Amino acid sequence: MCGIVGIITKKQVPICSSLVQKLKLLEYRGYDSSGLAFLNKKNIKVCKSKGEIKNLEQKISAKDMGNIGIAHTRWATHGKPSVLNAHPFLSDDKNWAIVHNGIVENYLELKSSLANVNFCSQTDSEVIAKLLQTNAPHILALIDVCNKIKGSFAIVAINKLDNNTLFVAKRKSPIYVMQSSDEVIVASDTICFENTGKDYYTLLDDEFCEVSLDKIIFYDKTGKVIKKSKTLLKKSQNKFSKDNLPHFMLKEILEEKVAIKNIIDYCQNNGLKKINKSLVRKIKQIIFIGCGSAYHAGLIGAKLIERYAKIPSTCHIASEFRYAETDIKPGTVFVFISQSGETADTLANLELAKGFITIGVTNNMHSTLSRAVSICLDIMAGKEIAVASTKAYLAQVLMLYVLSRHLQNLKFNTKVDYLSHVLDLLNVFEDIDFKKLDDIAKFVANKSEVIFIGRDLDYYLALEASLKLKEVSYIPSFAVPSGELKHGYLAQVDNRTCVVGITTQKNLHSKTLSNVSEAHSRGGNIVVCSPFDIEQKYLKIDVPNIDNDLICLLVAQRLQYLAYRVSVIKGFNPDKPRNLAKSVTVE
Ligand code: M6R
Repeated sequence: MCGIVGIITKKQVPICSSLVQKLKLLEYRGYDSSGLAFLNKKNIKVCKSKGEIKNLEQKISAKDMGNIGIAHTRWATHGKPSVLNAHPFLSDDKNWAIVHNGIVENYLELKSSLANVNFCSQTDSEVIAKLLQTNAPHILALIDVCNKIKGSFAIVAINKLDNNTLFVAKRKSPIYVMQSSDEVIVASDTICFENTGKDYYTLLDDEFCEVSLDKIIFYDKTGKVIKKSKTLLKKSQNKFSKDNLPHFMLKEILEEKVAIKNIIDYCQNNGLKKINKSLVRKIKQIIFIGCGSAYHAGLIGAKLIERYAKIPSTCHIASEFRYAETDIKPGTVFVFISQSGETADTLANLELAKGFITIGVTNNMHSTLSRAVSICLDIMAGKEIAVASTKAYLAQVLMLYVLSRHLQNLKFNTKVDYLSHVLDLLNVFEDIDFKKLDDIAKFVANKSEVIFIGRDLDYYLALEASLKLKEVSYIPSFAVPSGELKHGYLAQVDNRTCVVGITTQKNLHSKTLSNVSEAHSRGGNIVVCSPFDIEQKYLKIDVPNIDNDLICLLVAQRLQYLAYRVSVIKGFNPDKPRNLAKSVTVE
């Protein structure tokens, strides 16, 4: 949610272009407006734009030279997307400029404490700039303001009286600092450090710092200087190009095979070694926590762990669980699932899990989640740029499948060769009829609503398929367990509706088909996604029959591609769906 970057360079450079290049790497965090500020002849110059970063890029001038600046890409929370609401914001005396990620919960109260100050935006963030009332360029000014804030923040500020310092603050929103011989970068994601340096600092909650080319000084919230150590930047295989494909979402769906291979390697190289017999003996129950697609992956994980390892398991929506006042019994293990590792709703539950064993399942081993949990499993899907999760969701499901089989082996002293199932899956993974799926996408694209139905694991796949379709195509859609269809939901079905039945489990196949038929009798347009035979009157998405639970991945892959195609057919950009951000770092 919102991306932040700050740069200081040794030489004068076209600073706006440098900032925009970094900002583009953060665009996945929000893209409804963007802006930058830099020091130019002892004054702060600001440039802002509505919409994607390319709009800002068109406004900046390559002639504007400078050595220090800050920039921001926004995902609106308070105030609509507009130039006025875009960051950076200036202090009243125009000495300071700030960018902010997070939420100032008490912004109205703070605003009313500032008599005779003009606000030009509807945002909560502007109050941070306006509270900076001393012109002295010192971190104490920022610490003082932050101590008044209730809520979350990552802030980077510049002051026009000091062209060699970035002022940084952090609480519950990530921010990192990297220093190389000729530049310093402060950013809300380490992605901005690639090809720049080899290690970086991570600020923790209520830590602050003054960053300049020759020194970085860290402070706690009382203003006391503290010492911090650096983290090595993990070498990444990330390529930020579409490889001549039209969209990242398509590229990432096509990369799923690599993600599967990575998890096989991970398991073969003892990636699960910390989950050992002595740990398993302590587990009485497992609670999975996640949001959106990660929650859907967790539902599958909980079911598989009950099925194979016979450990009672439940999966919960992060934003609900934290307020549920659940009695957490001794012997509970928490599994937090989050591709970004920065989702605020998910991280908030870490507090409840204090004193329990916690396992993270993430695609970001530099994240807050990875640092906070007792054991972290790396799904190694490679960076996802498209906002809708595809390969990361698939890798989460696969990681939870191998976890369930690993726990089964440990608990029952068995030697189930589950990796051979995964290898078998690879053999059929690319047996996919894209042409047929394109035709089905055309059929789905003009329907007024799409209802996904399924039983057991197929219902969890239906939830994810429905989320994916509505995220990128905006067609109203929901998922319902097949058996529930007749308990009210059939009221939604008419000849403009499409019902997608998912049926991959032999014992449930005829049941789901009966429910499909109930929808068909009411005029519904039917698509069935299955490895089994069905009546010819229905459109069919074929799935290879691999006869084990990994069939989930084949269904997920097909329905992701369907969502992608429907989005493209309807003329949308699937990589940047409206009202969405990749990393949701506010509650
Ligand atoms: O980074 P996380 O896995 O914690 O993100 C959770 C959800 O915000 C995320 O899965 C969201 O639902 C995606 N847009 C799904 O495509």
